[in-house]
Amino acid sequence: MRLPYRDPIQLGPTPYEEFLEKEGLPVIRGYFLEDLKAVELKPWKRMGALGCYLNMGDQQETDAYICEIPPASQTLPQRHLFETPIYIVTGRGATTVWHEGDSKRTFEWSAGTIFAIPLNVSYQHFNVSKDEPVRFLAGTNAPQLMNFFHNEDFIFRNPFQFRDRFSNEPEYFSHNKRLTVRSWETNLIPDVNSFALDEYPMKGPGVRIMRFGIAGTTYGCHIQEFPVGSRSTFHRHGPGAIVTVTQGTGFAMVWREGEERQRFEIRPGTIYSPSDLMYHGHFNTGHTTMRHFAMRGRSPKYSQDRYRTKLHDMLPFDEEPPDIHPEYLRELAKNGVKTEISVVEE
Ligand SMILES: [Fe+2]
Repeated sequence: MRLPYRDPIQLGPTPYEEFLEKEGLPVIRGYFLEDLKAVELKPWKRMGALGCYLNMGDQQETDAYICEIPPASQTLPQRHLFETPIYIVTGRGATTVWHEGDSKRTFEWSAGTIFAIPLNVSYQHFNVSKDEPVRFLAGTNAPQLMNFFHNEDFIFRNPFQFRDRFSNEPEYFSHNKRLTVRSWETNLIPDVNSFALDEYPMKGPGVRIMRFGIAGTTYGCHIQEFPVGSRSTFHRHGPGAIVTVTQGTGFAMVWREGEERQRFEIRPGTIYSPSDLMYHGHFNTGHTTMRHFAMRGRSPKYSQDRYRTKLHDMLPFDEEPPDIHPEYLRELAKNGVKTEISVVEE
């Protein structure tokens, strides 16, 4: 049955699109980026570094950017009302955060570190290496805020200080607290690939996960792990996820109902972003654990999941297209990977 449908209202560019245009950087769109380490970046005036935007998954809920700080250099001070989880991809350095008129606090990071900028603090990133560039991936909820307030002064030059999120506590960036099973509150994850995760059998045998709230963000993120010879089930949800592979190799598969299936080879540095209601699944075909860092949805503490009747449209293994699992097993055999994980009830 065909559902009633009307054409979307289109009255020219959205405030977020106008903002992107003014930023003057390349914008990567689509669902898949092979390697964020290999993307060519352009000078970024506002940041005082190099950058490009990612507006992937055909949506304007969230976006991301890749930023590179040349050796022995730093970004210009920034402050804004959108949230910013950050994943350091290469290099090492430090970030200074402060409320205007207050003393500054500096913390260090290196490749693999994840942290978030407390909301609307002033901040500046430093590359402390004399010869290696720093490259990082940042997710933001800027599209939502731009399209809601459509006022850049309010977003970039707002003096309000969220002291409830950050009050210059000495131990702020070493704070760590378990909230529930599979959820954690922290302000800095030292290494994405060594943080201990919890079992997540609903997503497939052997799969592990931890969901985070970082620096009081409502924007959610998680780390997910697939042991050797394991894969996820498919599921689908709203758009805006940014999934970055941090360890291991394999493939991802996406499709929308009635549309052709797409398969992407994935490795550290690959990013994918399923669009609205696009089924997606992750397959480890390598000889090591596969992990990804994903930014999406709400953080555990500020989740409103309890008010949603259907969180995830999970596709059980026995309802997925029947050729997918044999394709995965063939790929494992080709790579000489033995799997002891069975997704099919014996
Ligand atoms: Fe997902």
